[in-house]
Amino acid sequence: MAAPVGVYVHWPYCPSKCGYCDFNAYLLPRRPHAYADYTASLLQEISLAERTGDLSGPLQSCAFGGGTPTMFPVEQLVQVLGALRQAGLAPDAEVTVEANPGDLEVAALGRLAEAGVGRLSIGAQTFSDPLLKAIGRVHQASDIGRAVQMAKRAGIRRVNLDLMYGLPGQSQADVAYALQRALALGVGHVSAYALELEPATVFGRRAARGELALPSEQSVIEMGDLVEETLSAAGLYRYEVSNYARPGEESQHNLAVWRRGRYRGFGAGAHSFIGERRWWNVASPLLYSRRLAAGEGVVAGEEDVSALAMGEWVYLSLRTLVIDTERFGQEFGQPWQDVFPASTLWAVAEGWLSWQGQTLVVAKERRWLLNQIAERFLEEGALSQRRLTPCADAG
Ligand SMILES: C[S@@+](CC[C@H](N)C(=O)[O-])C[C@H]1O[C@@H](n2cnc3c(N)ncnc32)[C@H](O)[C@@H]1O
Ligand code: SF4
Repeated sequence: MAAPVGVYVHWPYCPSKCGYCDFNAYLLPRRPHAYADYTASLLQEISLAERTGDLSGPLQSCAFGGGTPTMFPVEQLVQVLGALRQAGLAPDAEVTVEANPGDLEVAALGRLAEAGVGRLSIGAQTFSDPLLKAIGRVHQASDIGRAVQMAKRAGIRRVNLDLMYGLPGQSQADVAYALQRALALGVGHVSAYALELEPATVFGRRAARGELALPSEQSVIEMGDLVEETLSAAGLYRYEVSNYARPGEESQHNLAVWRRGRYRGFGAGAHSFIGERRWWNVASPLLYSRRLAAGEGVVAGEEDVSALAMGEWVYLSLRTLVIDTERFGQEFGQPWQDVFPASTLWAVAEGWLSWQGQTLVVAKERRWLLNQIAERFLEEGALSQRRLTPCADAG
């Protein structure tokens, strides 16, 4: 069974629920000890995983995501990090914490830095105050710069800013301004997401009623091009569909996920992937805590993904805009050309991909249409996998 390389911990509460967000995030319940109860449950789940042996190290990275982890008292984050260290989190592991610009304090950040947090991922979204208000954020544009400065003062060297484009009422000028402000802050990493309309959100419902004034599709494509041009010109290269970094500042945790590395997730709704099994926890933080307190399991569902392995590998590689065919051969013991002969021929002939040595590179103008390439490879991958995998019970 392949050992996990990364750990994800989910912190499910937020100061407000943003209009676009479909993450497993909730307003803090009006209940004393809500934070402490949840943290105690996390510690319990980690200790159980340690005892059952599915958390043997060394674990190379750890991401605290949410929700908004920095809403929790800092000592609780530090305690969970301590439990993970005992469970095998490597001393030099990359540790990232997601943060909301409006709720940070330099002392708390200093404590996180001392505990080994080396990367802060700040949900900036945009630098326009009216737009921030319209999308349901509680912070203001001026909080973002303060948050970056605080992180630096506290000794957290690596900072990411999350930005969004394609927001209702957003213009090219807004996007250009956000990029300019982000770069002026000197961050080495930017995640820039095109708005995805999720049906079960305030925005999804407003869009269904025709009440959301969104930029046109062409305008969103132009915003995406502007993001790529501006960030590349400033030395932040695009290493995933939505992620840009100065060389050396890439998120090691996310890179491992995109390389189909194994990870163990803790907390409400967290997903895990070990061996060829994926599973996910119950989404509700209350149910999650109740089940653990009653000595019951928290897994809500699971899936054996061995039959999808090759197709998934290609899909994830496409997100990084390059396919390393040599690594594919090493991981699956099959030459790339034996598994994907037809899709490769098609994708190269049609100008979607081009060869650079042993690597296939996605054409710049096709980066919006990755799903169309992925579909071809997924189909052929599934067929080849069936053809090439020896039958386990053949006898
Ligand atoms: C896990 S979220 C949260 C981090 C933190 N809670 C925050 O929002 O500040 C990571 C990022 O995903 C992006 N995001 C969330 N919902 C999205 C959507 N529907 N479409 C595009 N990007 C989205 C936002 O940029 C957000 O900062
Ligand atoms: S703060 Fe982040 S996780 Fe929470 S609702 Fe907003 S986008 Fe979602």
